[in-house]
Amino acid sequence: MLALLGLVMVFASCGDQGKNSSNGALSSSAAEKVYVAPGEQDEFYAFLSGGYSGNLTVYGLPSGRMFKEIPVFSQFPTSGYGYSEETIPMLNTSFGFVPWDDLHHPDISQTNGELDGRWIFVNGNNTPRIARVSLSTFETEEIIEVPNSAGNHSSSFITENTEYVVAGTRFSVPVPQRDMPINEYKGNFKGALSFISVAPDNGRLNLEFQVLMPGFNYDLSHPGRGKSHGWFFFTTYNTEEANSLLEVNASQNDKDFIAAINWKKIEEYVNNGGGTKMPANYAHNVYDEHTHTGTSTMKKEVLTVDPTKVPGAVYFLPTPKSPHGCDVDPTGQYIIGNGKLSADLTVHSFDKMLAAIEGEKFDGEAYGIPILKFEDVLAGTVKSGGLGPLHTEFDAKGNAYTTFFISSEVVKWKVGTWEVIDRKPTYYSVGHLMIPGGNSRKPFGKYVVAMNKITKDRYLPTGPEMEHSAQIYDISGEKMELIYDFPTHGEPHYAAGCPAELLAPKSQKIYRLDENKHEYATLTTGDARVERKGKEVHVYMSTIRSHFTPDNIEGIKVGDKVYFHITNHEQDFDVPHGFSIIGQNSSELLVMPGQTKTSVWEPKQVGVWPFYCTDFCSALHQEMQGYVRVSPANSNIDLSWSLGGE
Ligand code: CUA
Repeated sequence: MLALLGLVMVFASCGDQGKNSSNGALSSSAAEKVYVAPGEQDEFYAFLSGGYSGNLTVYGLPSGRMFKEIPVFSQFPTSGYGYSEETIPMLNTSFGFVPWDDLHHPDISQTNGELDGRWIFVNGNNTPRIARVSLSTFETEEIIEVPNSAGNHSSSFITENTEYVVAGTRFSVPVPQRDMPINEYKGNFKGALSFISVAPDNGRLNLEFQVLMPGFNYDLSHPGRGKSHGWFFFTTYNTEEANSLLEVNASQNDKDFIAAINWKKIEEYVNNGGGTKMPANYAHNVYDEHTHTGTSTMKKEVLTVDPTKVPGAVYFLPTPKSPHGCDVDPTGQYIIGNGKLSADLTVHSFDKMLAAIEGEKFDGEAYGIPILKFEDVLAGTVKSGGLGPLHTEFDAKGNAYTTFFISSEVVKWKVGTWEVIDRKPTYYSVGHLMIPGGNSRKPFGKYVVAMNKITKDRYLPTGPEMEHSAQIYDISGEKMELIYDFPTHGEPHYAAGCPAELLAPKSQKIYRLDENKHEYATLTTGDARVERKGKEVHVYMSTIRSHFTPDNIEGIKVGDKVYFHITNHEQDFDVPHGFSIIGQNSSELLVMPGQTKTSVWEPKQVGVWPFYCTDFCSALHQEMQGYVRVSPANSNIDLSWSLGGE
């Protein structure tokens, strides 16, 4: 059945727009274009950032149905993430346990500039972190903190062979952090751009080097690709280096910059011993799929690079009006700066940039970094007629799509001629947009999803706050067609999408019990037991439809710290069991088939206290329960446990 579905998806996702597919793409009716009939599946996965929810959400396109919320930076009681003993280390930072972040920009791993569907990377904005999520388990596998950074916004974008996931600071700060007057910002603060390598086999992250740039704000970034592979581009604003009332003081310069970083050159420099090691303190948290356990390690050093010490590595491209989005077209030739205080888009040419560097067409420098002459790098200007351009994505036919926040629209234009082809309103105030593969050499230009900031009247009102609204446009024809609205969770900033066939066939269905290496796993019911070590009690418990082993425990005392290590013995797809106990100061656990998770319970009151399964797992789910007898602290009742009276 899955194989058959895969075939249908191959057909539907190879640019055969207009041909028949299960979602009715031939139909002229918008409703049929997004309708995925019961039992059928969507053509694309879409991963929308959750913004202040701290998590990543998974939707289907074109249906707009939400499939899952993947916890990344926020505690998530639905699964126990960030509450279970195994996942608490994932949220460790140099500031201690930080159970929330502001998740912004997902990017799917690539090989040769095309989506490969291994991992998706996301950034935590507030307490700077980068996370790697597996696209087979859909679980957060790794989180690395980014030192010397603040407001980790121009992140997390990957190079075209996933050599690096790149993170840039939005706020410049003293590097290293120190006690100094705020008004001495100018000339003293630094903007760190971090290059984090991704191991090709297992995806492990390592912060290789940080480029310490002038104290501007580094807003967004994208990799070069194709001919510009080896470069990375970052928009900047506040090149005025104002430290107060930025809405006025950071809008003084007519042009800010796009910073062009030749990371291959810097990589060569550090490989030859260049750079300065600086003391640092940042967490590196890794989740092991076989032990089902996360570990946190503190790193103590970072390699920093002064860009003026690496000739030819860093240039500034003047870009008008406080640019926000920084987007690179699929060929790698054009770098688009979306000047948010402008109507026009500025497009720089990579070839012209190289020629300008070669010909030393400089217009001064900033902190020793050459500024290229604007007219010598400019490829063209898109006279959009819109207001407040933010972000641009691309299809596979040489078209670009730019969102305009102020005029609330998506504008389609032609790469190379810069002519506007079409424009459609969005409801309302659109931020990012996403075309599956739109940040790669091979976009799948069938739909664009616009992520809007203001919802107002699009849905039934739900009090002062509405969920943000996304809109799907069919872009298979010359003109865009708005075909669907759907509510999103949190505040999506950017998204990444890919054909379903890339992920669905390898999506994990169970964890194999015989590969479970958890320290406290209960692999057979015969191993189920309860052990006391002083005031710590370890319960080795297993679950299968529809009971816990053991389900009666006595000899627990007030003041004990009870660790329930629950191993789910199911080996069937989509059969988790839950665990919760009265007065638990964390959350329930949802334990996947073959997995072990641990909940800590500190009983405070004498009595006989029930626990139960939180997931409706079978017709006898309501029978899936047990009791713990809690005696006074000075009691001498022996520890005992049983199931069915044995
Ligand atoms: Cu197990 Cu309900």
